[in-house]
Amino acid sequence: MPQVFSKSANGVARFVVWATCAALLLAIVIGIALPRSGFVTGVGQAVAQPVPFSHKHHVGQLGLDCRYCHNGVETSSSAGLPATEVCMTCHSQLFTNADMLAPVRASLASGHPLEWQRVNSVPDFVYFNHSIHIAKGVACETCHGEVDDMPLTARAHSLNMGWCLDCHRDPQPNLRPPQDVFLMHWKPPDDIARIRRSLISLLDIHPETMTDCYVCHR
Ligand code: HEC
Ligand code: HEC
Ligand code: HEC
Ligand code: HEC
Ligand code: HEC
Repeated sequence: MPQVFSKSANGVARFVVWATCAALLLAIVIGIALPRSGFVTGVGQAVAQPVPFSHKHHVGQLGLDCRYCHNGVETSSSAGLPATEVCMTCHSQLFTNADMLAPVRASLASGHPLEWQRVNSVPDFVYFNHSIHIAKGVACETCHGEVDDMPLTARAHSLNMGWCLDCHRDPQPNLRPPQDVFLMHWKPPDDIARIRRSLISLLDIHPETMTDCYVCHR
């Protein structure tokens, strides 16, 4: 009987088996880690914009309130982005010739709104509403991070279902008095635990139904 496989082929076969196992293991590790990494979720990655608008300058230094530019945030599902006219209340007098602001001037002249690139978004089959979170004491900072430190805006959290549910299961530790929701770098007062307990009933929050599927998928 002639030998079909030589002695060395045995070694090759063993190598192939081990290499396949190692490759599989690596694929599993990447498959778990990658969807959670900033590379895929976009967390912490600044998004390039048609105009390099800086919250660090306009909020951190000039102290503008969020509602000056995102005026839907208390009343509707979306926060909204500012119209070109809002920029021009100041920039018709300030930096009127700056190259950086050329797209703003062109937008005003043509009537075509600036095409801001989205930083945060959830899929169409998810229902999200800003006004309810604002009214129930969930701060901008809690979901969007410290935007007043951002020269270009980046996503602060994954916005995936697990992230929403983490809070919906137990909202109490994330609440603050509704009048403070627009503040950045907020420092909780000493008796915050007591305040948060009272906010649950004061604001009529019902954690027992907040994880029902229909809340976000309707
Ligand atoms: C002077 C106007 C102005 C003010 C004030 C302002 N913003 Fe913005 N904001 C913008 C513009 C313009 C964009 C779009 C460009 C960008 O994403 O940076 C934006 C984008 C954002 C985004 C990302 C939107 C997306 O695509 O997901 C968030 C979040 C945000 N702002 C939060 C805030 C918060 C919180 C405050 C108050 C602390 C605030 N902004 C104050 C003008 C403003
Ligand atoms: C309340 C007045 C005001 C409004 C409204 C305003 N800006 Fe500004 N903006 C300023 C001032 C003041 C500076 C200079 C900041 C600095 O350099 O310290 C500035 C600077 C800038 C710069 C130069 C880069 C930088 O950040 O220093 C850009 C670009 C800019 N603004 C874009 C915008 C856009 C786009 C809007 C509308 C979404 C807007 N601004 C709305 C007052 C305003
Ligand atoms: C509970 C978390 C949460 C809070 C609190 C929150 N946001 Fe958002 N924000 C989101 C999500 C999620 C999106 C993406 C929504 C979508 O795709 O429809 C978003 C989108 C945005 C956008 C993009 C435009 C839009 O309306 O979709 C802006 C601007 C914004 N938020 C500003 C704010 C400001 C300002 C505050 C505070 C006054 C705030 N957000 C509070 C979660 C939050
Ligand atoms: C940091 C806390 C927090 C996060 C994060 C959060 N929520 Fe909420 N959400 C709340 C609170 C508090 C309420 C008010 C619940 C109540 O009134 O009983 C609420 C209410 C809602 C409601 C309205 C429910 C109703 O009564 O109609 C929807 C829809 C919703 N959230 C969707 C989302 C989605 C989608 C996400 C993720 C993209 C999200 N939320 C992330 C705290 C949060
Ligand atoms: C607090 C809001 C919230 C609640 C409650 C919620 N979801 Fe979701 N769900 C989301 C968001 C946001 C996404 C999109 C982001 C993602 O895929 O993680 C999503 C995505 C999904 C997807 C698509 C999964 C995927 O990988 O693309 C399914 C299926 C789903 N949800 C089923 C459910 C079921 C079943 C329930 C009830 C047990 C539920 N959800 C409750 C927020 C919610």
